[in-house]
Amino acid sequence: MVLVAKNTLLRSFFCGLVLHVVTIVYAQDDQSGFISLDCGSKTNYTQEGSGIHYVSDDGFIESGVSHDLSGIISYTTRVYNSLRSFPENKRNCYTLRPQKGKNNKYLIRATFFYGESRGQPPQFDLYIGVDYWTTVYISDPTTFMAYEMIHFTSSDYINICLVNTDSGYPFITSLELRLLDNTMYKEQHSQLLIRLHRVSFGTNETIMYKDDKYDRIWDPINAEGVKRETIDTSSLKPVNEEQVPLKVISTAMTPLNSTNDELYYTWSTKTNDAYIIYIHFAEVETLKSNETREFDININDTMIQTFSPSTNITTITKQMPGVSATHELTVTRTLNSTLPPILNAVEIYSLKQLSLNQTDDQDVAAIWSTKSSYGLLKLNWQGDPCFPQPWFGLNCHYNATGVARIISLNLSSKSSTGGIAPSLASLTMIETLDLSYNNLTGNVPEFLARLDNLRILNLTGNNFTRPLPAELLAKSEKGLLLLSIEGISSEVKSSCLEGSCRNNKPKIVVILAPIIGCIVVLCIIVLIVKQLRKKALIKWDEGFTPRKQQFTYSEVLSITNNFKYEIGRGGFGRVFHGSVGAKQVAVKMLSESSSQGYKEFQAEVKLLMEIHHTNITSLVGYCNDNNHKGIIYDFMANGNLEKHLFDGCPNVLSWERRLQIGCDAAEGLAYMHYGCRPPIVHRDVKCSNILLNESFQAKLSDFGLSRAFPNEDASHVSSANVVGTIGYLDPEYHLTYRLTEKSDVYSFGVVLMELITSRRAISEGINIINWVKSAVEIGNVENIMDGRLEGCFDINTAWKVVEIAIACVSPTSIKRPTMNDVVMDLKHCLQSQKSHQSGSMSFNLESVTEPNPR
Ligand SMILES: *[C@@H]1O[C@H](CO)[C@@H](O)[C@H](O)[C@H]1NC(C)=O
Ligand SMILES: *[C@@H]1O[C@H](CO)[C@@H](O)[C@H](O)[C@H]1NC(C)=O
Ligand SMILES: *[C@@H]1O[C@H](CO)[C@@H](O)[C@H](O)[C@H]1NC(C)=O
Ligand SMILES: *[C@@H]1O[C@H](CO)[C@@H](O)[C@H](O)[C@H]1NC(C)=O
Ligand SMILES: *[C@@H]1O[C@H](CO)[C@@H](O)[C@H](O)[C@H]1NC(C)=O
Ligand SMILES: *[C@@H]1O[C@H](CO)[C@@H](O)[C@H](O)[C@H]1NC(C)=O
Ligand SMILES: *[C@@H]1O[C@H](CO)[C@@H](O)[C@H](O)[C@H]1NC(C)=O
Ligand SMILES: *[C@@H]1O[C@H](CO)[C@@H](O)[C@H](O)[C@H]1NC(C)=O
Ligand SMILES: *[C@@H]1O[C@H](CO)[C@@H](O)[C@H](O)[C@H]1NC(C)=O
Ligand SMILES: *[C@@H]1O[C@H](CO)[C@@H](O)[C@H](O)[C@H]1NC(C)=O
Ligand SMILES: *[C@@H]1O[C@H](CO)[C@@H](O)[C@H](O)[C@H]1NC(C)=O
Ligand SMILES: *[C@@H]1O[C@H](CO)[C@@H](O)[C@H](O)[C@H]1NC(C)=O
Repeated sequence: MVLVAKNTLLRSFFCGLVLHVVTIVYAQDDQSGFISLDCGSKTNYTQEGSGIHYVSDDGFIESGVSHDLSGIISYTTRVYNSLRSFPENKRNCYTLRPQKGKNNKYLIRATFFYGESRGQPPQFDLYIGVDYWTTVYISDPTTFMAYEMIHFTSSDYINICLVNTDSGYPFITSLELRLLDNTMYKEQHSQLLIRLHRVSFGTNETIMYKDDKYDRIWDPINAEGVKRETIDTSSLKPVNEEQVPLKVISTAMTPLNSTNDELYYTWSTKTNDAYIIYIHFAEVETLKSNETREFDININDTMIQTFSPSTNITTITKQMPGVSATHELTVTRTLNSTLPPILNAVEIYSLKQLSLNQTDDQDVAAIWSTKSSYGLLKLNWQGDPCFPQPWFGLNCHYNATGVARIISLNLSSKSSTGGIAPSLASLTMIETLDLSYNNLTGNVPEFLARLDNLRILNLTGNNFTRPLPAELLAKSEKGLLLLSIEGISSEVKSSCLEGSCRNNKPKIVVILAPIIGCIVVLCIIVLIVKQLRKKALIKWDEGFTPRKQQFTYSEVLSITNNFKYEIGRGGFGRVFHGSVGAKQVAVKMLSESSSQGYKEFQAEVKLLMEIHHTNITSLVGYCNDNNHKGIIYDFMANGNLEKHLFDGCPNVLSWERRLQIGCDAAEGLAYMHYGCRPPIVHRDVKCSNILLNESFQAKLSDFGLSRAFPNEDASHVSSANVVGTIGYLDPEYHLTYRLTEKSDVYSFGVVLMELITSRRAISEGINIINWVKSAVEIGNVENIMDGRLEGCFDINTAWKVVEIAIACVSPTSIKRPTMNDVVMDLKHCLQSQKSHQSGSMSFNLESVTEPNPR
């Protein structure tokens, strides 16, 4: 029996380094995949002996202070003559950006040497990105410690962070990165391999670069009582993937006394992490024809395999479960074997699962570039921008796989100068950008207008060249962007936020609209459109929540409490009640057999993410998790209008409330038609798509069929399949497949008739339009009014509303009013009704225009 001493981490590393200077090997010198940082060094140099090109770490970290140790003891291995320590921040990160980028495998090594005279060395943690790597603990200040891992990266950026754990200031001596071949150690892509041991048996010399072109460090083990064998290395065939260097594999250990038939290697692990062992073999003796070498490989009681080494270099790999214990690798001669067993080299790594949290590479590149454009050193922006906490001034939004996108950036008052950094164009998910009070100059770039998600842009307190890009102004005018800059923010604020625009113009409109001719009407429309846009802007500003969330199915399960409360059902699937935080929501889940397919689902989500208006349901989020598709809306406590209007509902909606609902719905549609560019046609306006909140404010919903059209004025030819709901469908569209905003007007007319009569669009085979029209023809409006109102309505107003409804359902679209006309007229009616109710007829002076029944 031969006992190999328990290995300790880098037991003879120091010794090896000194030796190394002596053994200069002229092998290939390809360091293109290397990053070698000498921490705390002020100079770049090539290490004598190894030939490794070290550079100062200055460009890779912004915090910390350099210390020169050469006064204490001067080493030929120069990297040990300096260190960088971090007395200030809790977390300090090096950011490495290897040339080959992501989806490559790297060996990363951090070394620590504290020197003699500085007292007890500190203890601190090392992280790779947000994942804990190890705790640096140095029992002896005069010992070099090296921590090493193998990491398959999924990001172009590798952050190595030193975290202060209140046991002294962290420090570091060197940081090295080596590009490996992706076929190496390939069993474990999603995990970190943290080196526990890497040993070469039968040698007494540390093996590293250039003997190992990947600069792995192999510790020598040459225990006593063990015979060392070497053969001519040219006979060895490197067929294994781990690419063990010849210098490592060409030596082996075997029992000195050939009557011994067992060798073993022991080590201990202190954590319960699983580990993986790579055992490398190659025959190092020339065997005679009657000689065989065969042995069993065991780890404790687990039989790995029976193996007979050849000159082919072979690696046996085994992953073992994690137990904090001593482990023992034994190789035992089989009965057939004429020769004792051998061991050439062993590598042992513990396995750590990565959290995979990281920021999108494009965003990382953009923010680093922005940081350097503006010289933002004081912000202590280090490591990953979003993890573990977003950088100061930043906000992020992460999806289910932990990929984060930057959604807001606040660089207000950072004394930045120059122009707007072009790198900001790459922050494609950004919603809020605050660059106020920076003395920035130059042009405001147009790309800001093309950041689709940008909702708030604050450029106040700078000195930009005018004019501003037209695209940007247009977006702001449409209410798609809240732009603050001298001259513009003030305009929005003074005219709207103080409430003046809510009051002035509508009154004029109310007086004039019903009686004035064509040109004036046109003018009014312009006013109204502007009005609507401004209003949209204000409302949007007040109620805007910048986070549009994508939810996973499991989040949806928790939001809805496992779909506990069903609140509705339709052709698409079912609707459930739920809550996101304190907010009540309705979750519409698409059934897989739904006739409302994936396209509609997408259309609706896309649209609702873009439009915001008080009279349009607002999107809280959506779920698009494989087969599970759902949309999450604000919860509407009073359900849909249909439920309240038609028979069976015990609470009768008052006439005034009905008018208010009509106004709300009309405003929502007008916004879609005139407040959005391109305009949007709802295509499925009906009572069941008008939802009511707790105070009976109406909001349009169900935009699955909606379409946006790029050309505002043209009418649109749509695909041949007719969409919409029978009874509400524009007959013109039905015949010609020409789709216009006027199709919505038609449907809205039907809704108005339903509001008036509480009769369904088609009831007992009779179309509501014909029914209403025939009643009107004989001058009998009272008869068509919902009987349950019991006469509680202003008859003049009722006449007017009926008129509007009839105009809306004109068979020819050009005869129908626009939604803006409708909004205007309905508001007028609502006001008349209100004043009628309060009995103050005096106010009505402006609005009294004799109803003119046909
Ligand atoms: C060291 O090398 C790096 C990278 O090649 C370079 O950016 C830096 O300026 C060099 N530093 C010195 C002091 O020469
Ligand atoms: C290394 O091993 C060789 C052969 O076993 C021996 O001659 C040499 O003295 C050893 N060197 C050291 C530094 O132990
Ligand atoms: C080898 O081991 C056997 C049994 O342990 C012992 O008798 C013998 O003396 C040993 N030979 C040498 C050369 O050490
Ligand atoms: C193998 O053959 C050689 C002679 O060629 C002999 O000396 C040796 O004892 C044999 N070994 C065994 C294990 O048979
Ligand atoms: C492996 O065997 C050694 C020696 O027999 C023992 O001390 C150790 O506890 C064993 N480890 C495990 C994990 O069983
Ligand atoms: C060594 O590998 C080569 C090809 O990789 C194979 O053809 C040969 O059979 C192997 N030899 C042994 C002894 O396994
Ligand atoms: C020993 O070798 C013979 C012939 O090579 C083989 O048939 C037999 O199975 C082997 N026995 C063991 C235990 O490996
Ligand atoms: C990172 O991802 C894990 C899941 O992989 C998650 O539990 C954790 O909360 C995430 N960390 C942060 C800071 O978001
Ligand atoms: C998260 O975002 C990344 C990059 O944008 C993407 O590759 C990944 O599929 C996303 N994961 C989910 C669950 O949406
Ligand atoms: C901005 O520029 C003005 C005039 O050039 C200067 O007075 C002011 O101090 C600057 N402000 C900042 C924050 O740099
Ligand atoms: C823009 O920044 C200024 C100063 O920080 C602030 O007063 C103003 O409210 C900001 N505007 C917006 C829309 O956030
Ligand atoms: C703004 O810029 C113009 C020209 O670039 C310069 O003349 C003016 O002094 C600047 N104003 C301030 C307040 O810095």
